[in-house]
Amino acid sequence: MSPLPPEAPPQAPPVDPAHAIDEAGGTVAQHGELASVDTTVFDGVRERAAAILLRYPEPRSALLPLLHLTQHVEGHVSRAGIAFCAEVLGITTAEVSAVATFYTMYKREPVGRHLVSVCTNTLCAALGGDDIYAAVRERLDGIGHEQTAADGSMTIEHAECLAACDLAPVLTVDYEFFDKQTVDSAVEIVDALRRGEKPHPTRGAPLTDFRSVELLLAGFFDDPAVGGLEAVAGPSAAEESLRGARLAEERGWTAPPVPDEGSSS
Ligand code: FES
Repeated sequence: MSPLPPEAPPQAPPVDPAHAIDEAGGTVAQHGELASVDTTVFDGVRERAAAILLRYPEPRSALLPLLHLTQHVEGHVSRAGIAFCAEVLGITTAEVSAVATFYTMYKREPVGRHLVSVCTNTLCAALGGDDIYAAVRERLDGIGHEQTAADGSMTIEHAECLAACDLAPVLTVDYEFFDKQTVDSAVEIVDALRRGEKPHPTRGAPLTDFRSVELLLAGFFDDPAVGGLEAVAGPSAAEESLRGARLAEERGWTAPPVPDEGSSS
């Protein structure tokens, strides 16, 4: 029997010219879309966007704070926000979308005045986080993950570990911590937010609102618009978190020296 002829390489499907990848890593369709999206809503923050770019040697490195800046303006990352970032950084809308959809801090839908994040990860859940989340939902007429109360006062979300396990169960409002919560204390926080009050976090800065915090996260932490440096001056470390360090100090424990790079030992 004669050997089989080699298999023909698979043929690429025909490419619609509008979807061909261009040198900038996007498609003609995407660039067309970018050109047609109105980004004038961001005109008031163009100077701030330029200031963010100056912090980095490569413009594209400024994408994360720039996305926070768009959330400061609109409360979420909209199509206009994606187009604005792409336009300012000289990258494609596809590249911006890939980053914006990867990180949970970038929201696809408009967030209410506050963002309430209830940790339901293992330790918090075991100590009551699931009950707290259920109680918060019930208090807000049964809204669910990433949904906003009818009065616009807050959006709630399940959160993965908020890095405060020694103070579990925790929730955050606009990323400020409320430690060692109970169902009752969490419901009180929700009620206060609905009344327009700003309960004081257990530690960290006083509450402002989601959009103001987004300006902080864009790196304008000393901006008068968010209260200046006093806004971030609250004590942030809890005694529980420092206990190990204090014990090591008392006992004279130190970390072993880091070996020199390239050392064989
Ligand atoms: S599990 Fe909730 S803060 Fe770590």
